[in-house]
Amino acid sequence: MSQPRPVLVVGSGAREHALATVLARTAPVIVAPGNPGMATSSTPFPITVSTDRPEDLDVDLVIIGPEVPLAEGLADSLRGLGRLVVGPGADGAQLEGSKAFMKELLDEAGIPTAKFGAFTSVAEALAFLATMSPPYVVKTDGLAAGKGVLVTDSFEEAKDDVIDKLMGEAFGKAGRRIVIEEGLIGTECSLLALCDGERVVALTPAQDFKRLGNGDAGPNTGGMGAYTPMPGIGQDLVAELVTTTIEPLVRAFQARGINYRGVLYAGLMLTEQGPKVLEFNARFGDPEAEVLLPLLQGDLVAWFTSIAEGTIAPALPAPGASVCVVLAAPGYPEAPRKSMPISGLASDGQLENAIAGVTVFHAGTARPDPDGPFLVSGGRVLTVSATAETLKDARALAYQAVAQISFEGMQYRTDIAEEAVRREELS
Ligand code: AMP
Ligand code: GLY
Repeated sequence: MSQPRPVLVVGSGAREHALATVLARTAPVIVAPGNPGMATSSTPFPITVSTDRPEDLDVDLVIIGPEVPLAEGLADSLRGLGRLVVGPGADGAQLEGSKAFMKELLDEAGIPTAKFGAFTSVAEALAFLATMSPPYVVKTDGLAAGKGVLVTDSFEEAKDDVIDKLMGEAFGKAGRRIVIEEGLIGTECSLLALCDGERVVALTPAQDFKRLGNGDAGPNTGGMGAYTPMPGIGQDLVAELVTTTIEPLVRAFQARGINYRGVLYAGLMLTEQGPKVLEFNARFGDPEAEVLLPLLQGDLVAWFTSIAEGTIAPALPAPGASVCVVLAAPGYPEAPRKSMPISGLASDGQLENAIAGVTVFHAGTARPDPDGPFLVSGGRVLTVSATAETLKDARALAYQAVAQISFEGMQYRTDIAEEAVRREELS
């Protein structure tokens, strides 16, 4: 039998490492630009990293991980070259690139979401803020890696943040326009679906832990851990969530002539008044991908090909449960420190003492000496992900693995999926 054609994954984080790992079950994978922890993974087919431009690589299928290349139109240029691409064009990626665009689309599609206003003027923003009640929510319009959001009960803090975001330089161009929102209270849930332009197939709901510290204390981050499935969110509720939030969005895209082939990630708040959309993203969540992808069984290359071709195949089975814990650099998210050696990893980037069901996905790691240790090189450094039959077992495995790894100043939460395990035991 001839060797299958390589598949390209664009990106360099733990999400892309997870994508590469599941795709490498059925085909060789190239990750561009990738990171050194990916190149050494032990999978059925090899994973290699490449610094070539994605356009220059000879592949048929491309999966684009992060939001920035999507917003910049990478999917369009690759499709122009005849590649099959999982990821929306620049038109569809505005969903994530502009919160104001997203809110307009939700409004048009009748999708429940928080009341909001979008502003460029400080005076108008503060006048609107004065009409809201706590918790106050202030967001930058544009891509800010999950870090441009303030949720606070203090009016003074919200007011200062409005002034900062509109006048300050902290978020550069992303900060010139802001969105002020009604604060929603309830259970947060990430619902990811794959869309072939017309039809959608949802993955199991996952929960992400956005705050830096235990008990949801500290600043918002890109995400400090995740788990799936969510006890209490059964198939009926998922079907209802898809019908009320994702399908109307796809129809709104179609009405605008946008052929959206890629991931639709709904960040939902399950409130007492029903589910409401907090945000939509145009890509896999990170760290949600690191729990959702390892559970999927079957041929991911064939499945992603069907999505890119506009003929989506039925959902892949995803039995069991998965929990992941993010290990972050000291100083993350404001000012991560780098260059410290990481201990506990073998030369293939995985655990020195392997644990069945555990994979270490690399994000901010470097390896200047190919025979030397991995070094910290980014804010979120590693995502330690475990699968098992139950959340309880997956959580235990993930933390058993975390205990093997260390670097100076390592930050991580010790309460990922703790509450979910309690709910799992009650059900
Ligand atoms: P976003 O980048 O819009 O997903 O916001 C990051 C995080 O801020 C979300 O995951 C929520 O935890 C929180 N958040 C955002 N919008 C709201 C809102 N309207 N009400 C309550 N919490 C919110
Ligand atoms: N986990 C949050 C995000 O990917 O935006």
